Amino acid sequence: MRSSVVVIGSGMMGSGIGAMAALAGNQTILVDLDQEKVKAGRDRAFQCIALRTENGLNTPEEAERARQLLTTGTDIEEAASKARIVIEAITEDLQIKQHLFSRLDSLLPSDVPICSNTSGLRITDIAEKCVHPERTMTTHFWLPAHLVPLVEVVMGDSTSLEMAQNMICELKGWKKSPVLVRRDLPGQLANRIFQAMIREAVSIVASGLASAEDVDTAISCGMAMRFPEWGPLKHLDAIGLELGLKVQDSVLPGICAEKEAGSYLRQLVEQGETGVAAGKGFYDWSKRDIHKDIAKRDVFIMEAVKVTQRLEQC
Ligand SMILES: NC(=O)c1ccc[n+]([C@@H]2O[C@H](COP(=O)([O-])OP(=O)(O)OC[C@H]3O[C@@H](n4cnc5c(N)ncnc54)[C@H](O)[C@@H]3O)[C@@H](O)[C@H]2O)c1
Repeated sequence: MRSSVVVIGSGMMGSGIGAMAALAGNQTILVDLDQEKVKAGRDRAFQCIALRTENGLNTPEEAERARQLLTTGTDIEEAASKARIVIEAITEDLQIKQHLFSRLDSLLPSDVPICSNTSGLRITDIAEKCVHPERTMTTHFWLPAHLVPLVEVVMGDSTSLEMAQNMICELKGWKKSPVLVRRDLPGQLANRIFQAMIREAVSIVASGLASAEDVDTAISCGMAMRFPEWGPLKHLDAIGLELGLKVQDSVLPGICAEKEAGSYLRQLVEQGETGVAAGKGFYDWSKRDIHKDIAKRDVFIMEAVKVTQRLEQC
């Protein structure tokens, strides 16, 4: 019987996606290239389940059931024979993804959705060789996939609106907050906004207006504090659009509108100051521990998710 969620690619993203599928009560199959990789993927998925449970996002009973529902495999054909939904989370390479999609398209009945977790490729291109591209779409989970609620469901040029909407209903049942993106453009939805923010943040540092640390503090301790409950468009309605218009007219002429990455960022990369791995980027990482920062970030996300869930019940 076709009752399984099949996640192909059990790396960083696939293991988190698999954990969420299993926690929602789905028979889940994590698929990767060999036994060693799927075993590592399952271990990571179990860690995701444990973290959520220790922090009160799932019950111990849900966790135990998820561990039993989560199985692994290395044979795509065998996994496909049980698939109700397939989510691909393999390496970000167009040709490899196209090949996998065309294979899945030939193995699966046309009502089984085939989704890609691609961050940068067009689903229209990934599904180019499919006979049934209407059942393909991007489901872009945000990192860490087991904690951040957002999933962008992006329609390709041929995606069926009904199938995309069905996937949105499915993901809501996984405790996710999916959004529908109706066109297949670079950056999908959220990354278009995030990249504009990064462009301005880099430009502020480059111009000497403020330090990198102060830019991050302004975002983390300012606007980000209200974002879980209050996005920029709700903010505009709250302050009144007349005021919003005036502020845009006075601030926009002075902020960065470059059509490519700024020269300051390019210069840092050329100097080898590429961030954590190099020990220096905007911050001096020789004196900081990224793992501590990741742990703090994840605690914050989990607490924010709990508060959001509580507020939804009010
Ligand atoms: N890492 C992120 O922040 C992030 C965020 C959102 C989306 N994504 C996207 O998610 C996808 C996966 O990213 P990741 O960071 O988990 O990568 P990863 O390298 O951690 O995992 C990819 C896994 O896919 C497996 N794989 C490769 N080819 C395969 C095949 N033909 N069949 C089965 N398994 C195969 C690899 O062995 C590996 O385990 C990419 O498309 C990426 O762009 C990544």
